[in-house]
Amino acid sequence: MVKKLKIDINSETMDIVSSEQLTLLQYLRQNGLTGTKEGCASGDCGACTVLLGAKEGEAPFITVNSCITPLLQLTGKQVITVEGLTADPRLHVVQQQLIEKHGSQCGFCTPGFVMSLAGWLENRFCKQGAMIQAPARALRTEVVEAISGNLCRCTGYKPIIEAGMAAALEIAETGSRFQSLASLTNDIPGQMDTEQSEPVAAGEDVKKAPIMMRPGSLQELDASLMRWPQARLCAGGTDLLLEKTQQGKPLDCLVSCLEVKEMNACSISEKALLIGAAASYSVIEQYCQSIWPDLGQFLKRFGSPQIRNRATLGGNLATASPVGDMSPLLMVLNASVIVRSTQGVERSIAVGEFFKGYRQTVLNDGEYIRAVSIGLEAFNGFRRFFKNSKRTMDDISTVMGAFYLDVSSSRVLEARIAYGGLAAMPIRVKAVEDFLVGKELNQACISRAQALLKEVINPLSDVRASADYRSHMAASMLSRALREQGGEILPAVTVG
Ligand SMILES: Cc1cc2nc3c(=O)[nH]c(=O)nc-3n(C[C@H](O)[C@H](O)[C@H](O)COP(=O)(O)OP(=O)(O)OC[C@H]3O[C@@H](n4cnc5c(N)ncnc54)[C@H](O)[C@@H]3O)c2cc1C
Ligand code: FES
Ligand code: FES
Repeated sequence: MVKKLKIDINSETMDIVSSEQLTLLQYLRQNGLTGTKEGCASGDCGACTVLLGAKEGEAPFITVNSCITPLLQLTGKQVITVEGLTADPRLHVVQQQLIEKHGSQCGFCTPGFVMSLAGWLENRFCKQGAMIQAPARALRTEVVEAISGNLCRCTGYKPIIEAGMAAALEIAETGSRFQSLASLTNDIPGQMDTEQSEPVAAGEDVKKAPIMMRPGSLQELDASLMRWPQARLCAGGTDLLLEKTQQGKPLDCLVSCLEVKEMNACSISEKALLIGAAASYSVIEQYCQSIWPDLGQFLKRFGSPQIRNRATLGGNLATASPVGDMSPLLMVLNASVIVRSTQGVERSIAVGEFFKGYRQTVLNDGEYIRAVSIGLEAFNGFRRFFKNSKRTMDDISTVMGAFYLDVSSSRVLEARIAYGGLAAMPIRVKAVEDFLVGKELNQACISRAQALLKEVINPLSDVRASADYRSHMAASMLSRALREQGGEILPAVTVG
Protein backbone atom coordinates (compact mmCIF):
# COMPACT_ATOMS: atom_id res chain seq x y z
CA MET A 1 0.00 0.00 0.00
CA VAL A 2 1.44 3.32 -1.06
CA LYS A 3 1.39 6.14 1.46
CA LYS A 4 1.88 9.82 0.76
CA LEU A 5 2.97 12.12 3.53
CA LYS A 6 4.54 15.47 4.15
CA ILE A 7 7.68 16.05 6.17
CA ASP A 8 9.64 19.27 6.46
CA ILE A 9 13.29 18.45 5.87
CA ASN A 10 15.71 21.33 6.13
CA SER A 11 12.83 23.79 5.57
CA GLU A 12 11.68 22.06 2.42
CA THR A 13 8.32 20.35 2.55
CA MET A 14 8.77 16.91 1.06
CA ASP A 15 5.88 14.92 -0.39
CA ILE A 16 6.94 11.44 0.47
CA VAL A 17 5.60 8.37 -1.21
CA SER A 18 6.75 5.10 0.21
CA SER A 19 5.63 1.57 -0.39
CA GLU A 20 7.95 0.10 2.22
CA GLN A 21 8.93 0.66 5.82
CA LEU A 22 11.95 2.94 5.40
CA THR A 23 13.99 4.38 8.21
CA LEU A 24 14.51 8.13 8.20
CA LEU A 25 18.20 7.49 7.54
CA GLN A 26 17.48 5.39 4.46
CA TYR A 27 15.24 8.11 3.08
CA LEU A 28 17.75 10.89 3.73
CA ARG A 29 20.62 9.07 2.10
CA GLN A 30 18.53 7.88 -0.87
CA ASN A 31 17.65 11.53 -1.44
CA GLY A 32 21.15 12.91 -1.48
CA LEU A 33 21.39 14.01 2.15
CA THR A 34 24.45 11.88 2.73
CA GLY A 35 25.93 14.08 5.46
CA THR A 36 23.99 11.87 7.86
CA LYS A 37 26.05 8.70 8.22
CA GLU A 38 25.25 5.10 8.95
CA GLY A 39 27.59 3.52 11.49
CA CYS A 40 25.92 0.76 13.47
CA ALA A 41 22.28 1.03 12.31
CA SER A 42 21.28 0.07 15.84
CA GLY A 43 21.13 3.33 17.81
CA ASP A 44 24.55 2.88 19.41
CA CYS A 45 27.02 5.14 17.62
CA GLY A 46 25.12 8.39 16.95
CA ALA A 47 26.59 8.90 13.44
CA CYS A 48 23.03 9.16 12.09
CA THR A 49 21.87 11.81 14.59
CA VAL A 50 19.41 14.41 13.25
CA LEU A 51 17.11 16.91 14.92
CA LEU A 52 13.38 16.40 15.07
CA GLY A 53 10.80 19.07 15.84
CA ALA A 54 9.36 17.83 19.10
CA LYS A 55 5.93 17.30 20.58
CA GLU A 56 4.38 19.54 23.19
CA GLY A 57 6.10 19.10 26.54
CA GLU A 58 9.46 18.26 24.97
CA ALA A 59 12.38 20.53 24.15
CA PRO A 60 11.87 22.44 20.85
CA PHE A 61 14.16 20.08 18.96
CA ILE A 62 15.18 16.63 20.02
CA THR A 63 18.11 14.58 18.79
CA VAL A 64 17.16 11.18 17.40
CA ASN A 65 18.94 8.25 15.80
CA SER A 66 17.59 8.39 12.26
CA CYS A 67 18.75 4.79 11.66
CA ILE A 68 16.00 3.43 13.93
CA THR A 69 13.32 6.07 13.35
CA PRO A 70 10.58 4.94 10.99
CA LEU A 71 10.06 7.53 8.26
CA LEU A 72 6.30 7.07 8.08
CA GLN A 73 5.91 7.96 11.75
CA LEU A 74 7.06 11.51 11.04
CA THR A 75 4.19 13.06 9.14
CA GLY A 76 3.92 16.75 9.91
CA LYS A 77 7.29 16.77 11.63
CA GLN A 78 10.31 18.95 10.99
CA VAL A 79 13.66 17.31 10.46
CA ILE A 80 16.99 19.10 10.39
CA THR A 81 20.06 17.35 9.09
CA VAL A 82 23.63 18.56 9.07
CA GLU A 83 23.05 20.03 5.59
CA GLY A 84 20.28 22.29 6.93
CA LEU A 85 21.85 23.45 10.14
CA THR A 86 22.38 27.02 9.11
CA ALA A 87 21.12 29.42 6.47
CA ASP A 88 24.25 31.50 7.06
CA PRO A 89 26.97 30.98 4.44
CA ARG A 90 29.37 30.57 7.34
CA LEU A 91 29.59 27.31 9.23
CA HIS A 92 27.48 26.73 12.32
CA VAL A 93 29.37 27.77 15.45
CA VAL A 94 29.73 24.10 16.49
CA GLN A 95 31.25 23.16 13.13
CA GLN A 96 33.66 26.09 13.30
CA GLN A 97 34.74 25.18 16.83
CA LEU A 98 35.24 21.54 15.89
CA ILE A 99 37.66 22.71 13.22
CA GLU A 100 39.46 25.11 15.53
CA LYS A 101 39.81 22.57 18.34
CA HIS A 102 40.80 19.72 15.99
CA GLY A 103 37.68 17.76 16.97
CA SER A 104 37.46 15.86 13.70
CA GLN A 105 39.92 13.39 12.19
CA CYS A 106 38.49 10.79 9.78
CA GLY A 107 35.24 12.78 10.07
CA PHE A 108 32.81 9.88 9.92
CA CYS A 109 31.34 10.58 13.33
CA THR A 110 31.49 14.37 12.98
CA PRO A 111 28.01 15.15 11.55
CA GLY A 112 26.49 13.19 14.42
CA PHE A 113 28.48 15.13 17.02
CA VAL A 114 27.61 18.40 15.27
CA MET A 115 23.90 17.60 15.50
CA SER A 116 24.06 16.52 19.15
CA LEU A 117 25.92 19.67 20.13
CA ALA A 118 23.76 21.94 17.97
CA GLY A 119 20.61 20.43 19.50
CA TRP A 120 22.00 20.90 22.99
CA LEU A 121 22.85 24.56 22.29
CA GLU A 122 19.46 25.19 20.71
CA ASN A 123 17.56 23.79 23.66
CA ARG A 124 19.80 25.45 26.22
CA PHE A 125 19.33 28.76 24.43
CA CYS A 126 15.58 28.41 24.03
CA LYS A 127 15.01 27.30 27.63
CA GLN A 128 16.89 30.20 29.07
CA GLY A 129 16.18 32.85 26.45
CA ALA A 130 19.90 33.54 26.20
CA MET A 131 23.09 31.56 26.35
CA ILE A 132 23.85 31.81 30.05
CA GLN A 133 27.46 31.27 31.01
CA ALA A 134 28.08 28.34 33.32
CA PRO A 135 31.14 27.41 35.37
CA ALA A 136 33.56 25.40 33.20
CA ARG A 137 33.07 22.20 35.19
CA ALA A 138 29.27 22.33 34.90
CA LEU A 139 29.49 23.22 31.22
CA ARG A 140 31.81 20.29 30.61
CA THR A 141 29.34 17.94 32.31
CA GLU A 142 26.56 19.26 30.08
CA VAL A 143 28.65 18.77 26.95
CA VAL A 144 29.62 15.23 27.95
CA GLU A 145 25.96 14.38 28.53
CA ALA A 146 24.97 15.96 25.22
CA ILE A 147 27.41 13.76 23.28
CA SER A 148 26.96 10.63 25.38
CA GLY A 149 25.16 8.93 22.48
CA ASN A 150 27.95 9.59 19.98
CA LEU A 151 31.03 7.45 19.49
CA CYS A 152 34.31 8.58 17.97
CA ARG A 153 37.11 6.17 17.22
CA CYS A 154 39.76 8.80 16.40
CA THR A 155 39.84 11.90 18.56
CA GLY A 156 39.70 10.62 22.13
CA TYR A 157 36.80 13.07 22.77
CA LYS A 158 38.85 15.79 24.48
CA PRO A 159 38.87 18.16 21.48
CA ILE A 160 35.18 17.49 20.81
CA ILE A 161 34.29 18.39 24.40
CA GLU A 162 36.43 21.50 24.14
CA ALA A 163 34.68 22.47 20.90
CA GLY A 164 31.25 22.11 22.54
CA MET A 165 32.31 24.24 25.50
CA ALA A 166 33.88 26.86 23.24
CA ALA A 167 30.73 27.06 21.09
CA ALA A 168 28.56 27.76 24.16
CA LEU A 169 31.02 30.34 25.44
CA GLU A 170 31.26 32.03 22.06
CA ILE A 171 27.50 32.49 21.90
CA ALA A 172 27.33 33.65 25.53
CA GLU A 173 30.11 36.16 25.06
CA THR A 174 29.33 37.56 21.64
CA GLY A 175 25.57 36.93 21.55
CA SER A 176 26.08 36.55 17.85
CA ARG A 177 26.05 33.70 15.41
CA PHE A 178 23.10 32.06 17.00
CA GLN A 179 20.17 31.65 14.70
CA SER A 180 17.51 29.55 16.35
CA LEU A 181 16.78 26.45 14.31
CA ALA A 182 13.07 27.20 14.65
CA SER A 183 13.58 29.99 12.11
CA LEU A 184 14.80 27.42 9.61
CA THR A 185 11.70 25.26 9.56
CA ASN A 186 8.23 25.56 8.07
CA ASP A 187 4.93 24.84 9.73
CA ILE A 188 3.32 22.09 7.80
CA PRO A 189 -0.04 20.48 8.34
CA GLY A 190 0.23 17.36 10.49
CA GLN A 191 -2.36 15.72 8.28
CA MET A 192 -1.20 12.63 6.46
CA ASP A 193 -2.43 12.48 2.92
CA THR A 194 -3.00 8.79 2.55
CA GLU A 195 -4.51 6.57 -0.02
CA GLN A 196 -7.20 4.69 1.81
CA SER A 197 -6.45 1.03 2.17
CA GLU A 198 -9.22 -1.43 1.56
CA PRO A 199 -10.22 -3.76 4.39
CA VAL A 200 -8.84 -7.26 3.98
CA ALA A 201 -10.15 -10.47 5.42
CA ALA A 202 -7.91 -12.66 7.57
CA GLY A 203 -5.56 -14.71 5.43
CA GLU A 204 -5.46 -12.22 2.55
CA ASP A 205 -2.21 -10.70 1.34
CA VAL A 206 -0.62 -8.90 4.27
CA LYS A 207 0.86 -6.33 1.88
CA LYS A 208 -2.58 -4.77 1.48
CA ALA A 209 -2.44 -3.62 5.07
CA PRO A 210 -1.18 -0.09 5.78
CA ILE A 211 2.54 0.13 6.38
CA MET A 212 2.11 2.61 9.19
CA MET A 213 -1.07 3.70 10.95
CA ARG A 214 -1.02 6.72 13.22
CA PRO A 215 -4.18 6.78 15.35
CA GLY A 216 -4.77 9.90 17.43
CA SER A 217 -6.92 8.44 20.21
CA LEU A 218 -7.42 5.19 22.10
CA GLN A 219 -10.61 4.49 20.14
CA GLU A 220 -8.75 4.89 16.85
CA LEU A 221 -5.93 2.70 18.11
CA ASP A 222 -8.38 -0.01 19.17
CA ALA A 223 -10.08 0.19 15.77
CA SER A 224 -6.73 -0.09 13.93
CA LEU A 225 -5.65 -3.11 15.97
CA MET A 226 -9.04 -4.80 15.49
CA ARG A 227 -9.02 -4.22 11.77
CA TRP A 228 -5.40 -5.26 11.32
CA PRO A 229 -4.71 -7.92 13.97
CA GLN A 230 -1.32 -8.62 12.41
CA ALA A 231 -0.19 -5.03 13.07
CA ARG A 232 2.72 -4.50 15.47
CA LEU A 233 2.55 -1.63 17.91
CA CYS A 234 5.40 0.86 17.44
CA ALA A 235 6.24 3.43 20.09
CA GLY A 236 9.76 4.93 19.98
CA GLY A 237 10.94 2.03 17.82
CA THR A 238 14.25 1.80 19.72
CA ASP A 239 13.77 -1.94 20.18
CA LEU A 240 11.40 -2.74 17.34
CA LEU A 241 13.36 -1.13 14.49
CA LEU A 242 16.39 -3.27 15.33
CA GLU A 243 14.36 -6.21 13.99
CA LYS A 244 14.55 -4.48 10.60
CA THR A 245 18.07 -3.08 10.71
CA GLN A 246 19.79 -6.01 12.44
CA GLN A 247 17.66 -9.00 11.46
CA GLY A 248 16.31 -7.84 8.08
CA LYS A 249 12.64 -8.28 9.06
CA PRO A 250 10.34 -6.12 6.92
CA LEU A 251 7.97 -4.75 9.63
CA ASP A 252 5.22 -4.52 7.04
CA CYS A 253 2.36 -3.30 9.18
CA LEU A 254 2.93 -1.02 12.15
CA VAL A 255 0.56 1.03 14.24
CA SER A 256 2.23 3.96 15.95
CA CYS A 257 1.03 4.93 19.40
CA LEU A 258 3.07 8.14 19.55
CA GLU A 259 0.10 10.29 18.47
CA VAL A 260 -2.41 8.65 20.83
CA LYS A 261 -3.17 11.55 23.14
CA GLU A 262 -4.21 9.45 26.13
CA MET A 263 -0.99 7.42 25.98
CA ASN A 264 1.33 10.41 25.84
CA ALA A 265 0.20 12.31 28.89
CA CYS A 266 1.54 12.11 32.43
CA SER A 267 -0.70 13.20 35.30
CA ILE A 268 -0.86 13.19 39.09
CA SER A 269 -4.05 12.49 41.01
CA GLU A 270 -4.45 12.53 44.79
CA LYS A 271 -3.31 8.93 44.92
CA ALA A 272 -1.06 8.14 42.00
CA LEU A 273 1.33 9.25 39.31
CA LEU A 274 0.10 8.06 35.93
CA ILE A 275 2.66 7.82 33.14
CA GLY A 276 1.37 7.34 29.59
CA ALA A 277 2.88 4.24 27.98
CA ALA A 278 3.94 6.26 24.91
CA ALA A 279 5.52 9.22 26.71
CA SER A 280 9.25 9.37 26.00
CA TYR A 281 11.74 9.23 28.86
CA SER A 282 12.66 12.85 28.19
CA VAL A 283 9.03 13.88 28.69
CA ILE A 284 8.68 11.68 31.78
CA GLU A 285 11.86 13.10 33.30
CA GLN A 286 10.66 16.65 32.73
CA TYR A 287 7.23 15.94 34.20
CA CYS A 288 8.53 14.07 37.26
CA GLN A 289 11.19 16.61 38.28
CA SER A 290 9.47 17.67 41.49
CA ILE A 291 7.73 14.48 42.57
CA TRP A 292 10.51 12.04 41.63
CA PRO A 293 13.73 14.05 41.43
CA ASP A 294 16.09 11.03 41.53
CA LEU A 295 14.55 9.65 38.33
CA GLY A 296 16.38 12.21 36.18
CA GLN A 297 19.72 11.23 37.70
CA PHE A 298 19.04 7.55 37.06
CA LEU A 299 17.87 8.15 33.49
CA LYS A 300 21.25 9.63 32.58
CA ARG A 301 22.36 5.98 32.66
CA PHE A 302 19.53 4.88 30.34
CA GLY A 303 20.67 4.67 26.71
CA SER A 304 21.65 8.06 25.33
CA PRO A 305 19.86 11.40 24.85
CA GLN A 306 18.82 10.24 21.36
CA ILE A 307 17.34 7.02 22.78
CA ARG A 308 15.62 8.76 25.71
CA ASN A 309 14.06 11.26 23.33
CA ARG A 310 12.20 8.43 21.60
CA ALA A 311 12.00 5.39 23.90
CA THR A 312 8.96 4.79 26.10
CA LEU A 313 8.03 2.97 29.28
CA GLY A 314 5.39 0.91 27.44
CA GLY A 315 8.00 -0.35 24.99
CA ASN A 316 10.45 -1.15 27.79
CA LEU A 317 7.94 -3.26 29.74
CA ALA A 318 6.46 -4.93 26.66
CA THR A 319 9.85 -6.25 25.52
CA ALA A 320 10.18 -7.98 28.92
CA SER A 321 13.93 -7.86 28.60
CA PRO A 322 15.72 -9.48 31.55
CA VAL A 323 18.06 -6.46 31.53
CA GLY A 324 15.40 -3.78 30.95
CA ASP A 325 16.18 -1.01 33.43
CA MET A 326 12.71 0.14 34.28
CA SER A 327 11.17 -3.16 35.41
CA PRO A 328 13.11 -3.61 38.71
CA LEU A 329 12.70 0.05 39.46
CA LEU A 330 8.92 -0.07 38.94
CA MET A 331 8.68 -3.34 40.87
CA VAL A 332 10.07 -1.82 44.06
CA LEU A 333 7.81 1.21 43.67
CA ASN A 334 4.83 -1.22 43.62
CA ALA A 335 3.79 0.19 40.24
CA SER A 336 0.97 -1.26 38.14
CA VAL A 337 0.63 -1.67 34.41
CA ILE A 338 -2.70 -0.44 33.04
CA VAL A 339 -3.53 -2.79 30.21
CA ARG A 340 -6.24 -2.13 27.63
CA SER A 341 -7.88 -4.49 25.16
CA THR A 342 -9.12 -3.54 21.71
CA GLN A 343 -12.65 -3.79 23.15
CA GLY A 344 -11.74 -0.92 25.44
CA VAL A 345 -11.67 -3.08 28.59
CA GLU A 346 -8.92 -2.18 31.03
CA ARG A 347 -7.21 -4.13 33.81
CA SER A 348 -4.42 -3.30 36.20
CA ILE A 349 -1.51 -5.70 36.78
CA ALA A 350 1.26 -5.27 39.35
CA VAL A 351 4.57 -4.87 37.47
CA GLY A 352 5.92 -7.79 39.52
CA GLU A 353 3.24 -10.04 37.98
CA PHE A 354 3.54 -8.70 34.45
CA PHE A 355 6.39 -10.97 33.31
CA LYS A 356 5.95 -14.69 32.91
CA GLY A 357 9.26 -15.81 31.39
CA TYR A 358 12.14 -14.84 29.14
CA ARG A 359 10.77 -11.95 27.04
CA GLN A 360 7.21 -12.99 27.84
CA THR A 361 4.46 -10.96 29.45
CA VAL A 362 0.93 -11.77 30.55
CA LEU A 363 -0.54 -9.57 27.78
CA ASN A 364 -3.24 -11.41 25.82
CA ASP A 365 -3.69 -11.03 22.05
CA GLY A 366 -5.16 -7.61 21.32
CA GLU A 367 -4.04 -6.16 24.65
CA TYR A 368 -1.55 -3.35 25.02
CA ILE A 369 -0.12 -1.15 27.77
CA ARG A 370 -1.94 2.16 28.10
CA ALA A 371 -0.13 3.56 31.14
CA VAL A 372 1.86 2.83 34.28
CA SER A 373 0.50 3.88 37.64
CA ILE A 374 2.68 4.50 40.72
CA GLY A 375 1.00 5.13 44.10
CA LEU A 376 2.26 8.39 45.60
CA GLU A 377 3.29 6.64 48.85
CA ALA A 378 6.17 5.11 46.85
CA PHE A 379 7.82 8.52 46.78
CA ASN A 380 7.96 8.82 50.57
CA GLY A 381 10.35 5.98 51.41
CA PHE A 382 14.08 5.54 50.81
CA ARG A 383 14.88 4.43 47.25
CA ARG A 384 18.09 3.59 45.46
CA PHE A 385 18.61 2.38 41.89
CA PHE A 386 22.01 1.06 40.81
CA LYS A 387 22.98 0.16 37.27
CA ASN A 388 26.10 -1.80 36.50
CA SER A 389 27.16 -1.80 32.86
CA LYS A 390 30.39 -2.06 30.90
CA ARG A 391 30.23 1.59 29.84
CA THR A 392 28.86 4.31 32.11
CA MET A 393 26.65 5.81 29.44
CA ASP A 394 24.81 4.39 26.45
CA ASP A 395 24.94 0.77 27.53
CA ILE A 396 22.48 -1.82 28.74
CA SER A 397 22.76 -3.24 32.26
CA THR A 398 24.82 -6.16 33.33
CA VAL A 399 23.08 -6.02 36.70
CA MET A 400 20.39 -3.54 37.70
CA GLY A 401 19.40 -3.30 41.37
CA ALA A 402 16.43 -1.39 42.81
CA PHE A 403 15.73 -0.93 46.51
CA TYR A 404 12.87 0.55 48.49
CA LEU A 405 13.23 0.66 52.28
CA ASP A 406 11.09 1.93 55.10
CA VAL A 407 13.18 2.04 58.25
CA SER A 408 12.32 3.52 61.63
CA SER A 409 14.82 3.82 64.50
CA SER A 410 17.23 1.56 62.56
CA ARG A 411 14.60 -1.19 62.35
CA VAL A 412 13.35 -2.26 58.92
CA LEU A 413 9.58 -1.93 58.58
CA GLU A 414 9.39 -2.71 54.87
CA ALA A 415 11.90 -3.77 52.22
CA ARG A 416 11.40 -4.25 48.49
CA ILE A 417 14.36 -5.47 46.46
CA ALA A 418 14.39 -6.23 42.74
CA TYR A 419 17.06 -7.02 40.18
CA GLY A 420 17.48 -7.21 36.45
CA GLY A 421 20.24 -9.27 34.85
CA LEU A 422 20.12 -12.12 37.38
CA ALA A 423 17.50 -14.36 35.75
CA ALA A 424 15.43 -14.85 32.60
CA MET A 425 13.17 -12.05 33.77
CA PRO A 426 13.34 -9.25 36.33
CA ILE A 427 12.96 -10.64 39.87
CA ARG A 428 11.94 -9.59 43.38
CA VAL A 429 14.06 -11.22 46.10
CA LYS A 430 11.37 -11.98 48.67
CA ALA A 431 13.58 -14.16 50.85
CA VAL A 432 15.92 -11.24 51.54
CA GLU A 433 13.03 -8.81 51.95
CA ASP A 434 11.40 -11.09 54.55
CA PHE A 435 14.71 -11.59 56.32
CA LEU A 436 15.25 -7.84 56.66
CA VAL A 437 11.81 -6.92 58.01
CA GLY A 438 11.92 -6.40 61.76
CA LYS A 439 15.72 -6.50 61.89
CA GLU A 440 17.98 -3.79 63.19
CA LEU A 441 20.17 -2.53 60.35
CA ASN A 442 23.77 -3.08 61.40
CA GLN A 443 26.83 -4.60 59.76
CA ALA A 444 26.01 -8.14 60.93
CA CYS A 445 22.52 -7.88 59.49
CA ILE A 446 23.84 -6.52 56.18
CA SER A 447 26.38 -9.35 55.88
CA ARG A 448 23.71 -11.97 56.60
CA ALA A 449 21.39 -10.38 54.03
CA GLN A 450 24.20 -10.48 51.45
CA ALA A 451 24.93 -14.14 52.18
CA LEU A 452 21.24 -15.03 51.89
CA LEU A 453 20.98 -13.15 48.60
CA LYS A 454 23.88 -15.13 47.15
CA GLU A 455 22.19 -18.36 48.25
CA VAL A 456 18.83 -17.62 46.62
CA ILE A 457 19.89 -16.12 43.29
CA ASN A 458 21.22 -18.19 40.43
CA PRO A 459 22.59 -15.83 37.77
CA LEU A 460 23.79 -16.91 34.34
CA SER A 461 27.21 -16.42 32.82
CA ASP A 462 27.12 -14.77 29.40
CA VAL A 463 29.14 -12.39 27.22
CA ARG A 464 28.47 -9.50 29.56
CA ALA A 465 29.58 -11.12 32.83
CA SER A 466 30.12 -14.36 34.72
CA ALA A 467 27.60 -15.70 37.24
CA ASP A 468 30.12 -15.01 40.03
CA TYR A 469 30.55 -11.40 38.98
CA ARG A 470 26.78 -10.85 38.85
CA SER A 471 26.30 -12.45 42.24
CA HIS A 472 29.03 -10.29 43.76
CA MET A 473 27.65 -7.15 42.11
CA ALA A 474 24.10 -7.84 43.33
CA ALA A 475 25.36 -8.34 46.92
CA SER A 476 27.44 -5.20 46.74
CA MET A 477 24.44 -3.16 45.54
CA LEU A 478 22.37 -4.52 48.43
CA SER A 479 25.03 -3.59 50.94
CA ARG A 480 25.38 -0.13 49.45
CA ALA A 481 21.63 0.54 49.57
CA LEU A 482 21.36 -0.62 53.18
CA ARG A 483 24.40 1.37 54.29
CA GLU A 484 23.28 4.51 52.51
CA GLN A 485 19.89 4.15 54.13
CA GLY A 486 21.68 4.14 57.46
CA GLY A 487 23.19 7.51 56.58
CA GLU A 488 26.62 6.31 55.56
CA ILE A 489 28.18 8.56 52.94
CA LEU A 490 29.84 6.36 50.35
CA PRO A 491 32.00 7.47 47.44
CA ALA A 492 29.87 8.20 44.36
CA VAL A 493 29.54 5.35 41.89
CA THR A 494 31.37 6.67 38.87
CA VAL A 495 31.92 3.73 36.59
CA GLY A 496 29.47 1.02 35.67
C1 LIG B 1 21.33 2.17 21.76
C2 LIG B 1 20.28 1.63 22.68
C3 LIG B 1 20.45 1.79 24.05
C4 LIG B 1 19.48 1.29 24.92
N1 LIG B 1 19.69 1.44 26.25
C5 LIG B 1 18.79 0.92 27.12
C6 LIG B 1 19.01 1.04 28.52
O1 LIG B 1 19.98 1.67 28.98
N2 LIG B 1 18.11 0.46 29.34
C7 LIG B 1 17.03 -0.22 28.87
O2 LIG B 1 16.24 -0.72 29.67
N3 LIG B 1 16.79 -0.33 27.55
C8 LIG B 1 17.64 0.22 26.67
N4 LIG B 1 17.42 0.09 25.32
C9 LIG B 1 16.24 -0.62 24.85
C10 LIG B 1 15.04 0.29 24.49
O3 LIG B 1 15.45 1.60 24.22
C11 LIG B 1 14.02 0.35 25.62
O4 LIG B 1 13.54 -0.93 25.92
C12 LIG B 1 12.83 1.27 25.30
O5 LIG B 1 12.18 1.64 26.48
C13 LIG B 1 11.84 0.65 24.32
O6 LIG B 1 10.80 1.59 24.10
P1 LIG B 1 10.29 1.96 22.65
O7 LIG B 1 9.22 2.96 22.82
O8 LIG B 1 11.40 2.36 21.77
O9 LIG B 1 9.70 0.57 22.18
P2 LIG B 1 9.46 0.03 20.68
O10 LIG B 1 10.74 -0.30 20.06
O11 LIG B 1 8.56 0.96 19.94
O12 LIG B 1 8.65 -1.30 21.01
C14 LIG B 1 9.27 -2.38 21.64
C15 LIG B 1 8.27 -3.55 21.72
O13 LIG B 1 7.22 -3.21 22.59
C16 LIG B 1 5.96 -3.23 21.92
N5 LIG B 1 5.22 -2.08 22.43
C17 LIG B 1 5.56 -0.78 22.36
N6 LIG B 1 4.69 -0.03 23.06
C18 LIG B 1 3.78 -0.89 23.58
C19 LIG B 1 2.62 -0.72 24.38
N7 LIG B 1 2.21 0.48 24.81
N8 LIG B 1 1.90 -1.84 24.71
C20 LIG B 1 2.29 -3.07 24.29
N9 LIG B 1 3.37 -3.28 23.51
C21 LIG B 1 4.11 -2.20 23.17
C22 LIG B 1 6.29 -3.15 20.44
O14 LIG B 1 5.31 -3.78 19.64
C23 LIG B 1 7.62 -3.88 20.39
O15 LIG B 1 7.41 -5.26 20.35
C24 LIG B 1 18.34 0.62 24.42
C25 LIG B 1 18.16 0.50 23.04
C26 LIG B 1 19.11 0.99 22.18
C27 LIG B 1 18.91 0.84 20.71
S1 FES C 1 24.00 4.53 12.66
FE1 FES C 1 24.79 4.21 14.66
S2 FES C 1 23.26 5.15 15.88
FE2 FES C 1 22.42 5.22 13.92
S1 FES D 1 36.84 11.49 13.75
FE1 FES D 1 37.04 9.43 13.10
S2 FES D 1 35.44 8.42 14.18
FE2 FES D 1 35.45 10.39 14.99
